[in-house]
Amino acid sequence: MGDDLSLHEAIFSTRSMRRLKPDPVPRADLDYLIEAATMAPSAGNMQMWAFVTVTDRDQVARIGAAYREVGERYIRDGVLADPDITADRRRVYTQAMHNVERLDEAPAIVAACLAGRAPDDADVSSGFFGSIFPAVQNLLLAARARGLGTVLLTLATDYSPVKPEGTAPVREVLGLPDDVTVAALIPVGYPQGPWGRPWREDWRTRHHRERWGG
Ligand SMILES: Cc1cc2nc3c(=O)[nH]c(=O)nc-3n(C[C@H](O)[C@H](O)[C@H](O)COP(=O)(O)O)c2cc1C
Repeated sequence: MGDDLSLHEAIFSTRSMRRLKPDPVPRADLDYLIEAATMAPSAGNMQMWAFVTVTDRDQVARIGAAYREVGERYIRDGVLADPDITADRRRVYTQAMHNVERLDEAPAIVAACLAGRAPDDADVSSGFFGSIFPAVQNLLLAARARGLGTVLLTLATDYSPVKPEGTAPVREVLGLPDDVTVAALIPVGYPQGPWGRPWREDWRTRHHRERWGG
């Protein structure tokens, strides 16, 4: 398993790997993921990102507790409690419950952060959030190249629809300064299951030529 994986294979076989083995991830590999993340574009090349890599078991457990509290309320008691949700949505959120229950078992969690707080002005918010998710995607693909599974989590971050009330928020656990936003949490580890093409609608149904409808 190495860096010689083709870009095509990485893109077409990276999907959310929610079940991870407990084996530790070598420090050099975790560092490589962050370096790869910082090769991403950002608005004005301002590189407003910062990453916190967490492997300390107590820190992972605290993040897991915050995520569990938010996930139980938002997914278990909210999305999955709705009897009218579609079968597809139920399947995705049922899988998502694995991270709600077991995030504290991840050998490592990367917190992807941004300098600043989300702007109130929606017209500039694409530049703000758009300056971290390309880096996160680089990280997911770089992890794939090293045989490491990941999943992108935004619940329990600073712009989560539900905030923890009984547990310390992730930003507090990480000791983030007030002007730093945590935008995503990415558990990293060797996957228990196989890689495979992610399930997607046929791309042709999402593509137009020259004009909408073309
Ligand atoms: C912006 C964004 C936020 C997400 N937040 C969460 C999350 O909070 N919890 C979770 O379990 N999955 C989260 N996901 C993962 C998606 O559910 C997942 O990528 C999607 O179901 C497709 O699954 P696949 O990657 O296996 O193809 C998020 C994905 C994106 C792109």
